[in-house]
Amino acid sequence: MGKLKDIPKIDRPRERFLEKGSDALSKSELLAILIGSGIKGKNVKQLSKQIIRKFGNKFLDITVNDLLKISGIGKAKALQIVSALSLVKRFYEELGPKDKIVLSAQDAVSLTSEIRDKKKEYLVCLYLNARNALLKKEIISIGTLDKSIIHPREVFGPAVELRAAGIVILHNHPSGNIVPTKQDIEVVNKILEAGKIMGVNVIDFIIVSENDMHSIFIDIQASENKTTLYVSDGVQKSLFDLLETEKPVYKINVKKIKENYFYIPQIKKNYVQLHNRRYIGSKHKLIKWIFSIINKECEGNSFADIFAGTGVISAIAARHFKKIILNDFLYSNYAIYQAFFGDGAWDKDKINNIIKDYNNIPVEDLEDNYFSNFFGGKYFGYNSSKIIGFIRENIEENKKNLTNREYYILIASLLYAVDKIANTVGHYDAYFKKEHINDYFFMKPIDPIKVNEISIFKEDANLLVRKIKADVVYIDPPYNSRQYSRFYHVLETLTKWDEPKLHGVALKPDPENISDYCKSNAKTRFAELVKDIDARYLVISYNNTYNPKSNSSKNKIPLEKIEKILQEKGKTKVFERNYRHFNAGNTNFNNHKEYLFVTKV
Ligand SMILES: C[S@@+](CC[C@H](N)C(=O)[O-])C[C@H]1O[C@@H](n2cnc3c(N)ncnc32)[C@H](O)[C@@H]1O
Repeated sequence: MGKLKDIPKIDRPRERFLEKGSDALSKSELLAILIGSGIKGKNVKQLSKQIIRKFGNKFLDITVNDLLKISGIGKAKALQIVSALSLVKRFYEELGPKDKIVLSAQDAVSLTSEIRDKKKEYLVCLYLNARNALLKKEIISIGTLDKSIIHPREVFGPAVELRAAGIVILHNHPSGNIVPTKQDIEVVNKILEAGKIMGVNVIDFIIVSENDMHSIFIDIQASENKTTLYVSDGVQKSLFDLLETEKPVYKINVKKIKENYFYIPQIKKNYVQLHNRRYIGSKHKLIKWIFSIINKECEGNSFADIFAGTGVISAIAARHFKKIILNDFLYSNYAIYQAFFGDGAWDKDKINNIIKDYNNIPVEDLEDNYFSNFFGGKYFGYNSSKIIGFIRENIEENKKNLTNREYYILIASLLYAVDKIANTVGHYDAYFKKEHINDYFFMKPIDPIKVNEISIFKEDANLLVRKIKADVVYIDPPYNSRQYSRFYHVLETLTKWDEPKLHGVALKPDPENISDYCKSNAKTRFAELVKDIDARYLVISYNNTYNPKSNSSKNKIPLEKIEKILQEKGKTKVFERNYRHFNAGNTNFNNHKEYLFVTKV
């Protein structure tokens, strides 16, 4: 039987508890001490990990019957665990204010808001225990950040004293540009090296400015489109886990970061850029590769982006093509395109003043509204949801005083602000069940993009292609059964503002804009689409997710089928590259590739 004594000594929770205290142990290790022994084929650590994973946030409400369903847990152990929980709950109820728990970069930033607008650089360290509760916040240095000035002793000294399990380091860039400098990266790597030696988790290194932030933790996780929480499966995550090497080094150098942001002419700190949102399948990080191929393989004056999603592909196409056709069947995407790409008149000062007023709404004077009633304390903090609902209603009430473009600019700015604070992994299939939801609302105006000639549609792509003509048609349909209209329903509801009836735990309205590309007839629809397109070149994005862990991530159209359909239309070339892609946490496989098919009709 897998008892605690069978685990190598350094890994034994009891020894670590006695040596370093309970804060040094993860939840599953603490549970392992309670359980004491495992069963044949499953040691006590594996058994407790399984229990923590299975019950997650509901662990505190676990019952004896729940536990008896787990092989390896008998009546005596189940009673022991449930009694311990009940005891803790009783005392906990009698306690005063709760700990400050730092679960995300946003939490860390809100604890250090005072450094955001400082004229000098402040380096602050948050010391956390294994539950990510704040033990102490300390200013480490004031003045230019320099690896020769920052000594690991200053950062790790308090960590040792406090027996901290992890640290989050933050500093401000008074210039407003949150891209890490060469110095920053040298400091990060020096701290990573020291943290590894000291046995203290380096959880994150964050750069803040008055209106922006850049977290290395989010940066690495987002490039894999994973959750950006500091805790997953009850275990504290750190940069060590993300970099996954014995000697962790943050390799993204300044040049590479600048390349990633290459199409932003300059970082405008007071405005929101088109790509500043979380969106499944966004090609933001693949733009350079995609356009290196389009620019070589295709020519012409017009470009149609018929499954445009975020619209980031069109933003770059607008630099190379005179005429852009943009389409997506979601209401929220349509509003965003009208705002960023529309050609209607708008008054910048008027928009800035309205948004300034929106940012100063006294929440205590607001009444509950549709948005706060449904989403407050779930997808958003309660106060934020009250403000969001109020603003959306106010835009509608003032529609007659706004031009069409101004109306969409306000809605799009609100959609981007909402995305920033949503208590989700980035879409709305579920929200985090956590006690403390960030409840800070701040809205920035969107930064419109200049286009020579634009046509914006909100149609089913298969119907649209029968009416339009373009030199290049870019096709980036959904690849799997995940319906975009169901994933982004909160943004759809906010845009339409028709107060629909909402259903289920995820609070979704009745289905609308259900895509055939997410169903088994995707192949047929794709063949029809290709046949009906009037273009000189077709460019298609797809990937090789055919064997994911979760069936809903499985691609609907085989690559061979795509190629066969395209070869019938014209001479087709296939380009591929490795890419770490989005998954909602369930899909994780190596050898992920992105494909780009280019057909010369
Ligand atoms: C893979 S995403 C496109 C991502 C986009 N290229 C980007 O970089 O953001 C697919 C998009 O197609 C849209 N869509 C799905 N089915 C559609 C249909 N039948 N007609 C029009 N749009 C559709 C979805 O709303 C989604 O935004």
